[in-house]
Amino acid sequence: MNAFLAFLAAVPILNIECARILGVIPVASYSHQVPFQPLWKELSLREHQVTLMTTNPVKNTSLTNLTEIDLSFTYEIYDKYNFTGIISDDSKSFMEMFKTIKVMLEEAGDYQFQHPQVQNLIHNKEVTFDLVIVEAQLPGMMTFSWRFNCPMIGITSLDSGMQYHLAMGNPVHPILNPDYNLPMEDPEDMSFKDRVVSLLYYLGYSFVMYHRTYPEVQKKQRKIFGNDVPHPSTLHDNMAMLFINTHPIFHSIRPLNPNTIPIGGGIHLKDPEPLPKDIQRYLDTASEGAIFFSLGTNVNERMVENIMPRVLEALGEVPYKVLLRTDKKLKNVPENVLVKKWVPQQDILRHPNLKGFITQGGLQSLQEAVYNGVPLIGIPFLGDQVANVNRMVKKGYGIKLNKKDITKESLKEAVMELMTNPAYREKAEELRDIYRDEEVPSLQRAIWWTEYVIRHKGARHLRNPVVDMPHWKYFMLDVFVFVLALLSLLVFMCFRIIKTICKLFSVRPDHKLKTQ
Ligand SMILES: *[C@@H]1O[C@H](CO)[C@@H](O)[C@H](O)[C@H]1NC(C)=O
Ligand SMILES: *[C@@H]1O[C@H](CO)[C@@H](O)[C@H](O)[C@H]1NC(C)=O
Ligand SMILES: *[C@@H]1O[C@H](CO)[C@@H](O)[C@H](O)[C@H]1NC(C)=O
Repeated sequence: MNAFLAFLAAVPILNIECARILGVIPVASYSHQVPFQPLWKELSLREHQVTLMTTNPVKNTSLTNLTEIDLSFTYEIYDKYNFTGIISDDSKSFMEMFKTIKVMLEEAGDYQFQHPQVQNLIHNKEVTFDLVIVEAQLPGMMTFSWRFNCPMIGITSLDSGMQYHLAMGNPVHPILNPDYNLPMEDPEDMSFKDRVVSLLYYLGYSFVMYHRTYPEVQKKQRKIFGNDVPHPSTLHDNMAMLFINTHPIFHSIRPLNPNTIPIGGGIHLKDPEPLPKDIQRYLDTASEGAIFFSLGTNVNERMVENIMPRVLEALGEVPYKVLLRTDKKLKNVPENVLVKKWVPQQDILRHPNLKGFITQGGLQSLQEAVYNGVPLIGIPFLGDQVANVNRMVKKGYGIKLNKKDITKESLKEAVMELMTNPAYREKAEELRDIYRDEEVPSLQRAIWWTEYVIRHKGARHLRNPVVDMPHWKYFMLDVFVFVLALLSLLVFMCFRIIKTICKLFSVRPDHKLKTQ
């Protein structure tokens, strides 16, 4: 009877109805926004009331439980600072890049917090939430969890920065898990130079983050939210859970605590839809195989201006049809190349005649290609693209070309190698079978764990005690000192005993000597 009552009492808790969820994805980048769009949609269809701060609102009126706060003006601020140009410009020093991005993010943040609807979230005491889901990128945004005094889930469209892994108690080892932005030649077997770089990066990043950036962020947040806002590290150390967009095919293996949920199985992958008629016809007739060329949305036209003429020359000389996506008006387009401004990339990669994909190596493009068993040529430009493409080469499902080395000959050679050597496709198909073999689809997993955090009010039982542990305790310094002291005492005592015994035995010989 008691058990039955307990069961009844548990039902309303387990059946969380209509939780109020705030999503905050402030980074103006299509690839930061698109992986989570299915999550917001699905949560709202499960009758949760979702409010979302986003730079890419989907504005689907049939999703009545999804309220979007449109921050799309953030793109204009990024453009003003030439964001994508700066981070891919090899002539700029790291510090120069870092400073510009810092100023840019500050300006963007100022405008985002000043947005009337965001101001309402901050100041209207009647607004409450049961959960906030915040992109684990800009620490200031985590203040919303403090404002609403509710559990927080961090979410990333790539692997996560080291501070968030540390906040979950996951190991951050500069040799086993170098930062995802470092352009390592082979992240699984790093050279001595890369290992030195990785360690220095780790130390520098930690110092700048915790001792330079965070105090400034806190100051700013106190102006916006009030004078009690805690240090950003306190906020992220209290995160209930972290969702990371990683998968063993695309990232290094890392041991994860149960509060860190990988959702890298292609959470953004859509169900197939019919292709536009002209593209369908174009690919259907490409029985000798077709190639898709697209450098994604972050690589802007200014960056590819000087390579495009050579790319077109090379593609004009290969015996395959090429579908090329670009926003730019191109001159001298060869006959076998079809240029489009916008294309449904996932459906194109699904087409059976599509045999190769030339990409910048963004994570989502790689996920889509592997999901469809399509081998690639990677031309990395920025961010994690270099590491992604290096890993792709190591796994054997693609070829890397440096953007500096692109000539008509090198690209043509790479295309011919990709299309005529079956090894790349075989490898891509092998990985496709691994990638599709998921215990639970990533979207379902994300939903389940989101509701789990709501049901269990932050799921504190999954928290790793290491997060609150001082370094001396973690590295057992006190224990070592104690054991060393004990050992020293032991050695000292043994020494004394031996000395005493020696004395006892040496007394007699001494004696004898003297008496003889
Ligand atoms: C929105 O949520 C309400 C319950 O809060 C539910 O009745 C309704 O069906 C939901 N609408 C959609 C489109 O999911
Ligand atoms: C809006 O969402 C509904 C419900 O999932 C979906 O059926 C519809 O296709 C969406 N509309 C657009 C324009 O995406
Ligand atoms: C951005 O790039 C444009 C064109 O290359 C240049 O005129 C402008 O000064 C740049 N702006 C900044 C802030 O670097």
